[in-house]
Amino acid sequence: MTVASTTSRLVPVMRASLVLLSKFAFVLAAAPVVGASVVPVRAGDIERGRYLVEALAACDNCHTPRGAGGYDPAARFSGGSQTFSDKTYVVRGSNISPDEETGVGAWTDAELRAAIVDGVGREGRLAPVMPSDSYKPLTKSDLDAIIAFLRSANPVRASLAMPQQRRGEWSPHPVPGAETAFDEAALGDKSKHGLYVASLARCMSCHSGEVDGAPDHENRFGAGGKVFRNAAGVAVGSNITSHPSKGVGAWSDDELKRAITQGVSRDGTQLRPPMSTLSKAHFSKMSPDDLDALVAWMRTIRPKE
Ligand code: HEC
Ligand code: HEC
Repeated sequence: MTVASTTSRLVPVMRASLVLLSKFAFVLAAAPVVGASVVPVRAGDIERGRYLVEALAACDNCHTPRGAGGYDPAARFSGGSQTFSDKTYVVRGSNISPDEETGVGAWTDAELRAAIVDGVGREGRLAPVMPSDSYKPLTKSDLDAIIAFLRSANPVRASLAMPQQRRGEWSPHPVPGAETAFDEAALGDKSKHGLYVASLARCMSCHSGEVDGAPDHENRFGAGGKVFRNAAGVAVGSNITSHPSKGVGAWSDDELKRAITQGVSRDGTQLRPPMSTLSKAHFSKMSPDDLDALVAWMRTIRPKE
């Protein structure tokens, strides 16, 4: 059972106590409070945050180091193993654990929000590897939930070996229709809901064709062609438009869901990383509701060769 379906079935009383619990944890972390005058701290829903981080936004992918068996849970969020470099930056996923000195424990909620959805860190603009463009549509409560979940993680003391290097201006490339925060009501619409899931899960940042290293959502939305090189070899982002032969228009819903959540192609073969890695570690945890909405939305991607 997924976290989302569990929490959505919780009776209001339990939900309220969850919120209380998370408030308590936050207050403890911020400062020991004595007496009755506890400052009311608005806290997000930690379990919702966990779901968003683990099933969709995949923050671990760049912010948690890996060992032979995958992510190292003891060092969760203490900085990624991979270095990303381009003409304008050489960066690694930073320590986003709540350690006060080497992580983001001392950051305010406003600072965390700015980093997550605007790509602005304490020292200015973050390299565009940090996929804030994809996180733009986060509803206010989902963004708070992610922050609450991050704050609930173990603080891990770990500095990046090398300072982050960036020089340049990067223009934003949000998914069309998902440029700004959604309100809760928008998620009642299945297609909007699917777009929300696709944006948070970064599908189009890998599956749109690129011009000068940036996704061309305008002309090559979902058309594939981006090349990925990693230890496992080379993979090319597939055409996931509804084109019947070049895209996935002829695939059944179940075939699409299997590709997304298990990393298995239509013919039963394993897909390559990074798709297979994301599928297994993250998208496999997608709730049935989110997955249904995502697949319904994918059907609306205009066919491209
Ligand atoms: C595709 C890789 C990737 C993913 C996925 C990703 N990040 Fe990042 N993130 C980065 C990189 C790389 C940086 C550092 C960029 C820089 O310093 O210019 C960064 C920076 C940050 C920062 C600023 C930290 C600092 O010390 O400056 C925060 C906060 C952050 N990410 C939070 C998150 C959260 C929360 C998620 C998931 C919702 C997430 N990131 C997902 C790559 C990623
Ligand atoms: C980090 C990049 C990345 C992300 C994020 C990503 N994909 Fe993929 N995806 C790929 C690559 C690369 C392939 C090709 C794998 C191969 O050739 O074996 C692929 C393959 C696929 C396939 C199989 C298509 C075919 O013709 O075999 C589907 C379907 C798919 N992705 C859908 C999605 C959806 C939906 C999402 C978002 C939930 C998503 N992908 C997120 C990189 C990504």
